[in-house]
Amino acid sequence: MSDCEGYSAIARVYDRLNAEIDYAAWADFVEACFDRFLPKRPELVLDLACGTGSMTLQLAARGYDMIGVDGSADMLSEAYSRALGQPRILFLQQDMRAFELYGTVGAVTCCLDSLNYLLALDDLARCFSCVHNYLDPDGLFLFDMNTPYKFREVYGNNAYVLEDELIWDEGEETEERAAVYCGWQNTFHPDTGLCEFDLSLFEELPDGNYRRSDEHQTERCYSMEEIRTALSGARMELLGVWSDYAFSVPDRTTERWYFAARAKK
Ligand SMILES: C[S@@+](CC[C@H](N)C(=O)[O-])C[C@H]1O[C@@H](n2cnc3c(N)ncnc32)[C@H](O)[C@@H]1O
Repeated sequence: MSDCEGYSAIARVYDRLNAEIDYAAWADFVEACFDRFLPKRPELVLDLACGTGSMTLQLAARGYDMIGVDGSADMLSEAYSRALGQPRILFLQQDMRAFELYGTVGAVTCCLDSLNYLLALDDLARCFSCVHNYLDPDGLFLFDMNTPYKFREVYGNNAYVLEDELIWDEGEETEERAAVYCGWQNTFHPDTGLCEFDLSLFEELPDGNYRRSDEHQTERCYSMEEIRTALSGARMELLGVWSDYAFSVPDRTTERWYFAARAKK
């Protein structure tokens, strides 16, 4: 397949720039959803758009057999390196709108607004249908999406700088890592719901110079109505939507919706 746009250079530094995301807490939430909505713990779980494998690794460490699917060879290569020696994980490079597995799985996760990278409602519907095809009857689909509030009020046309120049202590020794800076400019188009991200990465090299790489990514803002319609068209029953890992009810300023849906038989 052709590679996912916008995830080449960033793959090398992706985990450092997203270090504030607590995947252990997120995996606790995933397991709380398993307890709440499945009759028994699933044996095999698909992590769709797994990226560098943060959720895939969390769940593998908790004893689930995992499949990680992603469209980007560079992101998968990072995931593969992190998972070396971990026999429970199969990584596949596939498009989440048309993926194929060897059989069904008990649950599917899709984390960190990966579904917002599908830019047409038809693509979202195709992805949901594939998820339905490969879920056991009554299997669980857990995913999140950025909300319209976040696109309008947080992303908007704002610019940010993300940085990581961590110095950490390992026992007695202090180690310093090369710095990474990421300039991030958003352009949100309310008429199409598309939000463009222009990212400029600056990675410090051993000689103290910086290497610059630019990435362009686009996400789409979906309304709750569109998501519900796409789910029901794919024969997925919406079980709940929350604003955090504590199952809180979303409100007007919620930035991320966490969904649980079940594959109807
Ligand atoms: C924001 S990252 C999230 C990665 C991972 N789920 C995490 O929690 O870190 C979005 C991921 O979606 C993947 N992606 C975007 N469009 C895709 C597509 N059509 N098919 C498969 N993967 C896709 C990208 O390659 C990237 O790894």
